[in-house]
Amino acid sequence: MKGLFITIEGPDGSGKSTQIENIKKFFEDRDIDIVFTREPGGTPIGERIREIILDNQFKEMDYMTEAMLYAASRAQHVAQVIRPALQAGKVVVCDRFVDSSLAYQGYGRRLGESVEVINSFAVQDCVPDITFLMKVDPKMGRNRIKENRENQDRLEHEKLAFHREVYKGYLELEKKYSERIVGIDASLGIDEIRDEIYRKLEEVL
Ligand code: TYD
Repeated sequence: MKGLFITIEGPDGSGKSTQIENIKKFFEDRDIDIVFTREPGGTPIGERIREIILDNQFKEMDYMTEAMLYAASRAQHVAQVIRPALQAGKVVVCDRFVDSSLAYQGYGRRLGESVEVINSFAVQDCVPDITFLMKVDPKMGRNRIKENRENQDRLEHEKLAFHREVYKGYLELEKKYSERIVGIDASLGIDEIRDEIYRKLEEVL
């Protein structure tokens, strides 16, 4: 595919949103149009699925159902938005992608390799060229999101132990896919993190 596919990953409360704004600005400053999108969601069907997955009401949701819903949302997202944009040579920036499923469902929910299998159908050849992984101790991340407790979704409500497993998963993925995953120390200052990301983006461009 002709385009460039960038994804941003990390535990809840890792400061992902701030750096996404910086990445958008990086391309804006260079007059490069990007397609910005997010998961779960990114399409009308995906946004509906997102509502179901994150709804606090569905405490009974089976972990495999959860994994499959994320993958279903992703399949639609790839088919409708990501693949066409990459085929047209565009830069696609996506807030969370397949690594979130591998970390949250594969490690956090302990579904293991089944998550890779399900997602290989959803993603096919649409693998990110580069993935920024915001690395922050889950406890610190949790403290950051505690501030608005009432707004927490079903996943954020999970206990610290779950988020520790997710983080361990991310670190494993960083090792396994070292050719594409760039770990960023998210405990650094906001500007330092931005500079590190910009350096890498310059390199990739
Ligand atoms: P969101 O509000 O987008 O969280 P954030 O702002 O932290 O990105 O909610 C997405 C939640 O869903 C988040 O807790 C991570 C989780 N998630 C998975 O468990 N698996 C997945 O495949 C994806 C994409 C997200």
